[in-house]
Amino acid sequence: MNGLNLPVPPCFLEKDATGEVQKLIQTAQNREIPIFYPADFVCIKNTNHELSKMFGSDEILAGWTPVDIGPKSLEKISSVISSCQKVLWIGPPDLGVLKKDTLGASQLAASLDKSSKNGCEIFVAGSTPCKAVERIPRLSSQITLLKNITVVWEFLKGRSLPGIAALDKAYTHAIRWDSVFSDPSLPLIVDIGSGNGLFLFQMGRKVKDSNFLGLEMNKKLVSRCLNGVLLSKSKNLYFISTDATSNFGPIVSSYLGALVLVTIQCPNPDFNRDVYRWKMMRRTLVEAIIDLLAINGKVFLQSDIEAVTIGMREQFITYGRGKMVIDVDDGEEWMEENPFGARTDWELHTMARGKPMYRTLLRKTG
Ligand SMILES: C[S@@+](CC[C@H](N)C(=O)[O-])C[C@H]1O[C@@H](n2cnc3c(N)ncnc32)[C@H](O)[C@@H]1O
Repeated sequence: MNGLNLPVPPCFLEKDATGEVQKLIQTAQNREIPIFYPADFVCIKNTNHELSKMFGSDEILAGWTPVDIGPKSLEKISSVISSCQKVLWIGPPDLGVLKKDTLGASQLAASLDKSSKNGCEIFVAGSTPCKAVERIPRLSSQITLLKNITVVWEFLKGRSLPGIAALDKAYTHAIRWDSVFSDPSLPLIVDIGSGNGLFLFQMGRKVKDSNFLGLEMNKKLVSRCLNGVLLSKSKNLYFISTDATSNFGPIVSSYLGALVLVTIQCPNPDFNRDVYRWKMMRRTLVEAIIDLLAINGKVFLQSDIEAVTIGMREQFITYGRGKMVIDVDDGEEWMEENPFGARTDWELHTMARGKPMYRTLLRKTG
């Protein structure tokens, strides 16, 4: 509600989180996911918890704390729930001020339980709404309770949660690196979204003392690339059909040698967003790359759309928490030349049209 410029009592506010909340609201709007927030609240007086009063959501007076949703909110939200397939109910943390039964929350919980029995998937986040839902006898198995609101919030912000990251690392895709590469201890170069593999085929031929791995989600392209590997009898080149966003970490973490270079070249921009962004460029992927990259290992980013390279570079700098620096020292923002002497298909296509490429190289410092 604070992100929507509605007044919220300070005890419910996380300092400096408004920007992140507004990004989430924007994401929801872009995906046409409706957000409903309470129109009215039952509030109790801070100095006397026995005193309660109804307030509109934009008129809560100082000295009063909301403890339950009001009848207008309940009516509005209940009327839309029945047509939903998935609902995330985010409630406030339990501030210990709650003495009375929360009638509004209990009625909302009952509506959600009814919808879930009609096939709607429900997630309830926060200790207060979870308490209301837990009071329902024979609760539907379609309802997932997430009591720790902090964890949900970190997840929504896109943070790789330590527990999940640890599981990802422990789960290694069964890749027999010794049957894929003749020497699986050589330095590894990974091209994410390798497309038709043109870049890696050239690199594999030029640089014999490294292994090259393409991660590409298009199965047909990967199948063609693997045929090419067979025909060329390459022993330092391999392609895997996978969603690199989720599987970069699990796949690459089992490699024996050092990860020295990751390239992300000409990702598909998402033109539906206000900022061009490759859907694949999620914080989890960026953090997995930074985590697995050797010290002094590099990340090469390029696109024919300047905003795409800027966006990718920003993600590495932000999520690198001081570990990633720009590795170009000629004072220019973009590298004039491709530093590898091997071009991707899209890059060739762009240059043939006389258009510029926006290239940058980052290095992991520590
Ligand atoms: C515009 S093409 C660029 C291909 C190549 N890098 C080039 O420059 O010619 C983007 C490629 O990224 C792949 N891709 C998109 N999302 C991906 C993901 N999550 N994991 C792996 N590959 C992905 C697409 O299938 C597509 O082949």
